[in-house]
Amino acid sequence: MTAESNLNAFMLLCQERAEAALDARLPPVSKPPERLHQAMRYSVLGGGKRLRPLLTYATGRALELPFEVLDAPACAVELIHVYSLIHDDLPAMDDDDLRRGKPTCHKAYDEATAILAGDGLQTLAFQVLADDPTLKVPAAARLSMIEALALASGSFGMVGGQAIDLDAVGKTLDIVELENMHIRKTGALIRASVKLACLAHPDLPDETSDRLDHYAKSIGLAFQIQDDILDEESDTQTLGKTQGKDRDHNKPNYPALLGLSGARQKARELYEEAVDSLSPLGERGSVLRALAQFVIERRN
Ligand code: IPE
Ligand code: IPE
Ligand code: MG
Ligand code: MG
Ligand code: MG
Repeated sequence: MTAESNLNAFMLLCQERAEAALDARLPPVSKPPERLHQAMRYSVLGGGKRLRPLLTYATGRALELPFEVLDAPACAVELIHVYSLIHDDLPAMDDDDLRRGKPTCHKAYDEATAILAGDGLQTLAFQVLADDPTLKVPAAARLSMIEALALASGSFGMVGGQAIDLDAVGKTLDIVELENMHIRKTGALIRASVKLACLAHPDLPDETSDRLDHYAKSIGLAFQIQDDILDEESDTQTLGKTQGKDRDHNKPNYPALLGLSGARQKARELYEEAVDSLSPLGERGSVLRALAQFVIERRN
């Protein structure tokens, strides 16, 4: 089997597993408030690349952890991610009508419901880490996972990055400021996806965990650079979200600062850095390596 067909098979398996795990953990629409629960399920289920759960499962595979212990952490990061997408699309933020190939949550429902659906998904993520029975790890490991996800999600992570993003509209950021914004708004959750799997390991050597963290930090930034590139050069149909929004909204991004080829070059360098950090894992790191390549070569 080629590395590519291996990755495709693994991706499919994890995407299906994540879908079922999320479905099982989301509140049923039969329970009130029905419309809120419907909106939460509408945004989470049936779409997206599931990159963050994939990273949690792939890290678990590299560390030879059982799949079962990774379902709850994989769901927790995806729930935070979807909450961030719902809020990112609101009129007060990026004002987008299309997400994952269908109307955004506030378009399909209404703004107040979208805000509350995001809030509900965020708290559900922490509830899953706190009490999911399939997460068979010591209480101290659960607590570390909750702390890591809270840090990655909050004002020093994703939410902080989003605040910097909104504040930067129409301004020229230098490369250090732009990198800081991207590392927070997107990189932090991607890093947490890998970190949560590391925390599920009973006694992971610091060196392995540091290397995996370096891998995740590198692909986290590369991921947002590729998002910026695709916003510039892809099309709405392929993306499942409206192309060209960054330029329309005067958002500082990598192609605006470095040009498309400069942005591609930077993403490639980060990919190489990520792959280098995996070298001691040998064959066990093969899926993570392939995922790093997917991050910079993806078309949506
Ligand atoms: C989009 O993330 C928002 C960013 C953080 C750049 P993804 O490209 O992972 O979105 P989905 O989950 O596949 O829809
Ligand atoms: C969004 O960045 C990052 C988060 C949702 C935290 P973007 O605004 O670039 O994401 P898209 O392009 O709308 O998916
Ligand atoms: Mg945004
Ligand atoms: Mg956006
Ligand atoms: Mg974008």
